[in-house]
Amino acid sequence: MNMEGHPIRVTDFKRMKRRAQKITMLTAYDATMARLFDGAGIDALLVGDSLGMVVLGHETTLPVTLDAMVHHTRAVARGTEHALVVADMPFLTYQITVTDAVRNAGRLLQEGGAAAVKIEGGRAVLDVVRRLVDVGIPVMGHLGVLPQSVHQLGGYARRGLVAEESDAILADAGALEEAGAFAIVLESIPADLARTVTGHVGIPTIGIGAGPECDGQVLVSYDMLGLFDRFTPPFVKQYARLGEEIRTATQAYIEDVRSGRYPMAPVEPVGARPGSR
Ligand code: KIV
Repeated sequence: MNMEGHPIRVTDFKRMKRRAQKITMLTAYDATMARLFDGAGIDALLVGDSLGMVVLGHETTLPVTLDAMVHHTRAVARGTEHALVVADMPFLTYQITVTDAVRNAGRLLQEGGAAAVKIEGGRAVLDVVRRLVDVGIPVMGHLGVLPQSVHQLGGYARRGLVAEESDAILADAGALEEAGAFAIVLESIPADLARTVTGHVGIPTIGIGAGPECDGQVLVSYDMLGLFDRFTPPFVKQYARLGEEIRTATQAYIEDVRSGRYPMAPVEPVGARPGSR
């Protein structure tokens, strides 16, 4: 909720930066989790194409389709009342032509119910950013580690460690702001570079593995909740170990069913509870 009691809008982001009010963001992929995060007071939900890795079981984000993103964005939007819903544009949905990009981003807003889209890259995607903003589609940029360029970059190693890269990230951030982006995700870059970028642009920076001095922070919810156990990036703080809880609960259920402890004899008339399925 913003100060006026409305759902968060992209226009609130700049105000939050001006007031040094940290922006909180998590990824979400379904309505139930979105409702939980939204109810807890999160400012923004990102329907990330990390969906491909943490939900769909792919090795990278590259196989994620626009249809999958529309489907999951719609679910997240249904579970959200207050947070800003941002949808990732998947690989090859904005890199081919600007016309494609407008049509595809439009689907994420029109069919998915997102309020903004996120695209990876800086000066290479400026024409897309400009056009999307011109037609009324808010854009969040994404610099540093670009998961859709994993093959080009040779992995997910931190970026901006040498002058050539850090200069490029700074120039890209300025260019994205000029092109009309309303915020920029900074992924896996040194904290001092993130601080410089944050001071250099008037739009908020949202860090992930980029130190404490960004205007906000985002994490992949499955990492932060301990649900995704294939690997955990070193910068992630695990606030829960839901994976372990789910495994333990599942084993207890299996034992109960096998031993006859569950189900128990009914203690109330069947079907008496409102909302029972
Ligand atoms: O897809 C995603 O979850 C992201 C975050 C890592 C920012 O882009």
